[in-house]
Order: sequence, then structure tokens, then C-alpha cells
Amino acid sequence: MEKNKIISIEHLTKRFPVGKGEFTALKDINLEFRKGEFAGLVGPSGSGKTTMLNIIGSLDSPSEGKAMVLGRSIADLSHQEAAALRNRHIGFIFQEYHLLPVYTVYENVEFSLLLQGMEASKRKKAVMEALEWVDLTDKVDSKPAKLSGGESQRVAIARAMVKRPEILLADEPSANLDAKNAHNILQLMKKLNQELETTFIFSTHDEKVMQYLDRIISLEDGKVVKDEKMKVEF
Ligand SMILES: Nc1ncnc2c1ncn2[C@@H]1O[C@H](COP(=O)(O)OP(=O)(O)O)[C@@H](O)[C@H]1O
Ligand SMILES: [Mg+2]
Repeated sequence: MEKNKIISIEHLTKRFPVGKGEFTALKDINLEFRKGEFAGLVGPSGSGKTTMLNIIGSLDSPSEGKAMVLGRSIADLSHQEAAALRNRHIGFIFQEYHLLPVYTVYENVEFSLLLQGMEASKRKKAVMEALEWVDLTDKVDSKPAKLSGGESQRVAIARAMVKRPEILLADEPSANLDAKNAHNILQLMKKLNQELETTFIFSTHDEKVMQYLDRIISLEDGKVVKDEKMKVEF
């Protein structure tokens, strides 16, 4: 495998059982992603964006074809291996922030490091650094219910990035945010992408997100209909 190619999808088809038949959500997809990309799957609702992210994130498996992520074939992972891949190497950001309501901001960000068994002093340093990235060090003791939408999404970014994953998957991350907060989180993610060389893959149909992407992969009806590198502006 070429060194910088961290995701490789070949002839991937995904079918879901529906009633007595099945529905084909992804049709013969071929895609590659390299380290450090800031790319987006763009398309109307139902075009297969979330299904694609779920397979890359080892939350789901191909029906046919191959999805290689960080050298592993997603279809061949056991539940435990998939969980370990996600916990160590893949961060997720969702439209609904999915913060744990009974935990503080600090504890929400710390959680994945506890699962990894990281020692206490290292953990504290990593959590505080992640909260600095998203400018929320003054909210460490707050519970999610006290946060605005923009703040909640920034906590979700810190939680996803604290383990310094190779891959960050963001499923419509701006959908519940106003324009100012959407730009704010996109700028933040672009900065982390550049500083940490994390590969970001978005799903979106938000123009505000699209303007930040270096690559736009257009999905329609489960197929890739366009794959464009955006021009670098001078
Ligand atoms: N678990 C499932 N069972 C049946 N159909 C599904 C399932 N998940 C997704 N689909 C269908 O697959 C299509 C693509 O869904 P999705 O990937 O969520 O699209 P998008 O994220 O682009 O809106 C939709 O028609 C959806 O209804
Ligand atoms: Mg979706």
C-alpha cells in the first residue's frame, strides 16, 4: 500500500434489508483518501453519505467490495477489533453532539482516554490541551445542558481529537449551528487538520462547509458522480 493512502475503497456496494427485499444505498464506489486530506461527501439527503462514513468508521460493513482503512479490511474485523480501531484511530463528530449529559465537559473529553487506559497525568495534559484547541478551558466543570450549540460542538471536536486520531469523520457537523458558529468550527477543524495532519472527511450539504473543503466528492443516489479537487486560492 502506498504510504500516504490511508483509505481505499474498491467496488463497494452496500445493501440494507427492507421488508422482504433490499435497498442498495451505495453502488460500486471507488475512492481513495490520503493522509491530511480535508474532504467532503456532498449530496442530497438519502444519497448515501452517512452509510459511507459509517463503513469508513467501521460502524458498518460493505455488502460487496472492499474498504481498507489504515491497512485493515473493514469486512474482516471482529467487533472487538473494530472497536479498537475506532477508539485509537478514528474520531467522530455528529450533527447531534452526543455528549454524555451526566458528565462534565472535562469528563466527556477524557472518556476515550480512560477506555485506552492512559495514565492519569498524561490524560489530564491531553484533555486540557484539547480544550485549549477549542477555547473551552473555562467550561471544564460545566454539564452539556448549560452549553450553547456552538460550545457543545466544540466539546465534541475536543472529544474526537483528544486521542489524536488519524481520521476524523464529521457527519453534517454544522446542521444545528448558525452561520457564525458553523464558520467558527470549520476554521477550528481546518487548523487541527493542518497542525496535526488528521484526515478529515465530512458529510454535508451545507454551502458554508463546502467552501472550506479541499476536495468535494458528490454523491447521488448511492453513486459518486463527481470528485473534484478545489482550487487553492492565492
Ligand atoms: N439501516 C438501514 N436500513 C434500511 N435503509 C437504510 C438504512 N440506513 C440507510 N438506509 C437508506 O439508505 C439511503 C442512504 O442513507 P444515508 O446514508 O443515511 O443518506 P444521507 O446520509 O446521504 O442522507 C437512504 O435511502 C436510507 O433510507
Ligand atoms: Mg446522513
